[in-house]
Amino acid sequence: MTLEFHKLHPLFAAEASAVDLRAVQDDESLERIRAGMDEHAVLVFRDQAFSSEEQRDFAVRLDGELHRKTGISVLQKSRFGDEAITDVSNVDAGGGVLEADSRKRLYGLANRLWHTDASFQDPRGRYSMLAAVALPPVAADTEFADMRAAYDTLADETKASLEGLRVHHSIAYSRVTLGFEFSEEESDQLKGAIQPMVLENPRTGRRSLYLASHASRILDRPVPDGRLLLRDLMEHATRPELVYLHSWRRGDFVIWDNRATMHRARPFEDTRHPREMRRVTTLDVGDPARIAQAV
Ligand code: OGA
Ligand code: MN
Repeated sequence: MTLEFHKLHPLFAAEASAVDLRAVQDDESLERIRAGMDEHAVLVFRDQAFSSEEQRDFAVRLDGELHRKTGISVLQKSRFGDEAITDVSNVDAGGGVLEADSRKRLYGLANRLWHTDASFQDPRGRYSMLAAVALPPVAADTEFADMRAAYDTLADETKASLEGLRVHHSIAYSRVTLGFEFSEEESDQLKGAIQPMVLENPRTGRRSLYLASHASRILDRPVPDGRLLLRDLMEHATRPELVYLHSWRRGDFVIWDNRATMHRARPFEDTRHPREMRRVTTLDVGDPARIAQAV
């Protein structure tokens, strides 16, 4: 089987040729997907039929170690019985649409802010893999921003001024900006992590701006200066020409590199229509090819 990728946007994002990822086990195909990720940062696979366990097992084959310290696990346990499998849906355990004031819903609404997954943990997230299980009859899209292009299009002086900056990321922070309230016990478990402002993909040498709405402050700047800089950079990184909008089809499976992209969910009538998505995220540890072989 030879996988091919067709570009969906001038800068990044590509659609893979037909393949059943459940059957992709060989090193050559897995390495082809990793190379595709290095190049395109977002890959769309159509018509996947993963169970949650199969989705998790594929993530391990592709990229090694899984992110389990999710923010939502502090509020409630995953209904899939493994914290590696995140429920990114607006339904409760019985499949009913969440009420407007449901805590799970209010927490999940923050996915509408530009973010990267698991930047608030150390090690941070690397690949996220989101499966569209059940979609509403209305548009409920996801946007992606190319953070490599965001870095590349900065002025040289700006690039130089960002060198070495350290940024605190907290999932509690992004939620609090929307008015979500955490208990003291929850806050204690969501202290966040320190991340560099600029990341480099060790396989390609390509650099990216590493931003998210989780970014609460720059350690090396006074708080207001740092927040203003974060806002400016966020605006720069999410200009329309840097954004790919994904309109989901049932069975879509999208993999994105959290080091090289941001994403956000677009609004829809979420207290009316069920939308079921399931995500597995890997950790940014070691070389993907070597790690996947070792597990
Ligand atoms: C995610 C996420 C956006 C969406 O799964 O990490 O942010 O549109 N999803 O569901
Ligand atoms: Mn996300």
